[in-house]
Amino acid sequence: MASHILILAAGQGTRMRSGRPKVLHRLAGLPLIEHVLRAASALTPHSTGVVVGHLADQVRAGLVDHASLRFVLQTEQRGTGHALLQAEPLFGGQRGALVVLSGDVPLIRPETLRRLIQTHERADAALTVLTATLARPYGYGRIVRKDGRLSRVVEERDASETQRQLTEINSGIYALALAPLFDALREIRASGALNEIYLPGLVTIYRRRGLAVETVCVENPDEVRGINSQTELAEVRQIVRQSKNEELMAAGVTIEDPATTYVDTDVTVGPDTVIHPGVILEGRTRIGARCELHSGVRIVDSTLGDNVLINNHCVIQGATIAQDARVGPFAHLRPETVVGKAARIGNFVETKKTSLGDGSKANHLTYLGDATIGSGVNVGAGTITCNYDGGQKHPTTIGDRVFIGSGTELIAPVTLGDGAYVAAGSCITNDVPAGALGVARARQVNKEDWVTRRKADRNTSLPDV
Ligand code: UD1
Ligand code: CA
Repeated sequence: MASHILILAAGQGTRMRSGRPKVLHRLAGLPLIEHVLRAASALTPHSTGVVVGHLADQVRAGLVDHASLRFVLQTEQRGTGHALLQAEPLFGGQRGALVVLSGDVPLIRPETLRRLIQTHERADAALTVLTATLARPYGYGRIVRKDGRLSRVVEERDASETQRQLTEINSGIYALALAPLFDALREIRASGALNEIYLPGLVTIYRRRGLAVETVCVENPDEVRGINSQTELAEVRQIVRQSKNEELMAAGVTIEDPATTYVDTDVTVGPDTVIHPGVILEGRTRIGARCELHSGVRIVDSTLGDNVLINNHCVIQGATIAQDARVGPFAHLRPETVVGKAARIGNFVETKKTSLGDGSKANHLTYLGDATIGSGVNVGAGTITCNYDGGQKHPTTIGDRVFIGSGTELIAPVTLGDGAYVAAGSCITNDVPAGALGVARARQVNKEDWVTRRKADRNTSLPDV
C-alpha cells in the first residue's frame, strides 16, 4: 500500500488575513501541516514531499524536525495544478500512486486515505478524488456528475447558480497514478476567475483520454474541512477539541464542562482525574491518574504524577510535579520547576529553575528561582531567593529538613546546610552550616513612652483656640 505523498502548502492563504503562513497556524497545539503529516506518515510512504512557496523559508523552518521531508519550491503561486507540477523533479518517471494532500485540510484520517488508495488501485484509476457531501458546501469546488460519474470539478467562484446547489464537494485530496501525471498537468490551461492552473482540471483531461477517474466519498465530512479563514480555523478547532475531550472521557477522565475544557492533541490524562471548568492543557503535558485540576488552571509542557491537586488559577509551564503534591491557588510554576512527592506550593508562589524536594512546603507569597531545595523543608511566607544581581543569575542550595522563617531574603549564591534554621525576617548573605541557626536582622530597639512624649510635644505646639 505504501505510496508517495505530496502536501500542497505554497498558497498565499489570503483569506486568513495573516502575516504567518497558513499551514503554520496552530490547531490543538500543532501547526496545521503537522496534523496532515501525521496522517501521511501513518501510511508509511516511500517518500513525502511538500510544495512550499509563499513564505517558504518560514514553512521549511517550521518543519525542521522532519528530516526526511523533501521540499519543492513553487516560486509563483499559479494554482494547485501548477503546484503539483513543481514536484516533477521528485516523482517524474516513477510508477505507482501519489497521494496529494492539502496543508490546510488537517483532520484527514489515515483510514480514509487507505480507503482512497485501495479504491484507486482496485480500479486501476488515473485519478481518484476524495469527496464529501456537505450541508453547507460554500467555498468548496463542487463535484459535477454526468450519468453518475465524475465529469468535472467547478470552483465556487466559477460556478453557476445551479452548480452552487450541488452539495458534493472536492476535498482537495487525491490519489494519482504517477505515470500519466506530469504530461497531463502540462496540458491544463489557466482558467477561472483567478486565471489559475487548477489541479481538478485533470478530471477533464483523463476523461477525454478514457482513463479511469474514480471518487471516494468520506463518511464523516468533518474530516475534509478545509481552513481558508480564521472563522474556519475556529470551527475546526471546535471539532478537534470536542473529539479530544470525548477520547479522554472514554478513557475514564471526568470533564465537568467539556465546552470550556481545552486540551491539545498530544496531551495525555490518566483515569479518574477530574477536570473542572475552564482548564487549559497544552503542548506535551502529561497528567497522571486521580489528579484534580481546578478552574482557571493552564498547564503547558508539564508532567504531573498521580493524585496531584492543582488549585484554582495556576499557570504551570515546563514543570514536573510528583505524585501527591498540592499546588495553588494562584501559583506560577515556570520552566524547570521540579516539585517532589507530596510537596506543597501555596498561593502567590512563583518558582523558576527550582527543585523542591519530597514533602517540602512553600505555602505563601514566595519567589524561588535557581534553587535546589531538599526534602522536608519549610519555606516560610514571603521568602525570596535574590538570584539576580543585575547581570547574572546565582544558585541557592538548601539541604534537607531546613526551616526558613517568614520574610527571609536569601542573597544568592548561598547554601543552607541540612537541618539549618533561619530566623524570620533574616537577610541571609552568608552560608548557614548544617544544624546552625542563621539570624541576620537588625536588633530591635524599644523606646519607652515614645508615643506619649510625641503627642505631648505636638499638643504644646498647637496654636491656642
Ligand atoms: C481547493 C480546490 C477545491 C477544493 C478545496 C478543498 C482547486 C483549484 N480547488 O480550493 O476544489 O474544494 O481545495 O479544500 O484545487 N496551493 C499551492 N499553490 C498554489 C495554490 C494553492 O501550493 O498556487 C496550496 C495551498 O497552500 C493549499 C492547497 O493548495 O494548501 C489548496 O489551495 P487553496 O487556495 O486553499 O484552494 P481552495 O480554494 O481551498
Ligand atoms: Ca483551501
